[in-house]
Amino acid sequence: MSLPMPADAAPDRLRAADLSACLPATAEVVGGRLLVGGVDLARLAEREGTPLYVYDEADLRGRMRAYRESFSACSDRLPAGADVVYAGKAFLDKAMVRLVDEEGLCLDVSGGGELAIALAAGFDAARVVVHGNNKTPVEIAEAIAAGVGRIVVDNLAELARVSAASVKAGVTQDILLRITPGIHVDTNDYVVTGCEDSKFGFTLLDDVAFRAVGTALDTPGVRLVGVHMHVGSQVLDVRPYRQAIDVMCDLLARVRDAYGVELAQFDLGGGLGVAYDAAERPTSVADFVAFLVDGVHEACAERGLAVPHLAVEPGRSIAAVAGVALYRVGAVKPLPGIRTYVAVDGGMSDDIRCALYGSTYECLLPERADEPRDCVVTVCGKHCESGDVIVRDASLPEPHEGDVLAVLGTGAYCCSMASNYNGQPRPAVVFVADGEARVVTRRETYEDLLRRDVG
Ligand code: LLP
Repeated sequence: MSLPMPADAAPDRLRAADLSACLPATAEVVGGRLLVGGVDLARLAEREGTPLYVYDEADLRGRMRAYRESFSACSDRLPAGADVVYAGKAFLDKAMVRLVDEEGLCLDVSGGGELAIALAAGFDAARVVVHGNNKTPVEIAEAIAAGVGRIVVDNLAELARVSAASVKAGVTQDILLRITPGIHVDTNDYVVTGCEDSKFGFTLLDDVAFRAVGTALDTPGVRLVGVHMHVGSQVLDVRPYRQAIDVMCDLLARVRDAYGVELAQFDLGGGLGVAYDAAERPTSVADFVAFLVDGVHEACAERGLAVPHLAVEPGRSIAAVAGVALYRVGAVKPLPGIRTYVAVDGGMSDDIRCALYGSTYECLLPERADEPRDCVVTVCGKHCESGDVIVRDASLPEPHEGDVLAVLGTGAYCCSMASNYNGQPRPAVVFVADGEARVVTRRETYEDLLRRDVG
């Protein structure tokens, strides 16, 4: 086969790649066909249409359990316990909220909309952590009225808004302050958040964070229970978390010495990276959790602090690999001497990550999952711009018009960042388990597109 390939493509390496790190836990190849949760993906695509986002329920549950069990395994070093708080921004609908609930996790919502989804699914507001760097007065009032457990306050203006709302509601709201530890992690610049130049949280520069703690302790209507950090996302080298922990524990020790208060909670945020590329070997959940717990334990011992109650907020490391996006190939366009474009029936409207971050994924053809992936092609979408690429230089068996194409590792930040660009209805979401597939979010219709159009 001689489709044009980009000059720097390395088909041998790709052909040899073991995709297991990128596939959901229950994925299996039977008679050359890819099954997830016992469901034949190509047949599912035929039945439900494409683009389609498929989640392996067992995989999602397994990752949630892995976090909880990893903390349990460290319980000797965690006298005050720990919460695993799923970051809903990675992917959220009511079915996902119910899984989070059933697996005993807490839920991080990044605004009023995600809170509304959580409440609609019957999630206990006391286990909700509210995020956002500019929560509106309405969002704050809604969160307080719902009885959310914790609000993570980003700045002083917001502190005043939370105080006013809780005083008005006659309640005392538990809050954490989001602190920017000033630590750089190696990931895409758009998702680095813990460095000095960040729109998030209180900076340590000029003692801003230290003084904010003092202010929060004196603010009516709120109870300052702890501090929060989130250093970034898709972090593969987790060592900088240790530096960040030291910085945060320095602050906790200063707060104790100056204000006479030992803050009881430390939320370490999310960020653990996943294998988008078959060659990537991310830190396991168990190793990540143990590394964090050991780090906090040591840092507290060095400063004479009691180990606080911990929280982590994983999003991607729970949802990404559990999800597979299915598309239908509409056209294969070889450009002699350049590359071959494979156009599918979705694109940047359902997965903007390549266009936005230059992200990459592994793909395969679910009806020929055992064939060597010896063609290198660029999987592009159906939108009207050249940046509408889903996977640059993807390795696949020779694709043809009409093939179902699966993009792996698309469970996080694809559906949740989807748009209606070019009037494209957003895809359906299906959960698969034990040979059954159930639509949990239906495909958008043209009627849905017109519903808000009241002109
Ligand atoms: N906690 C906070 C406060 C966050 O801002 C985030 C992600 C998380 C937890 C979860 O981080 P994770 O475990 O998923 O890395 N759209 C980008 C990722 C943006 C991450 C935003 N914040 C992407 O597609 O890569």
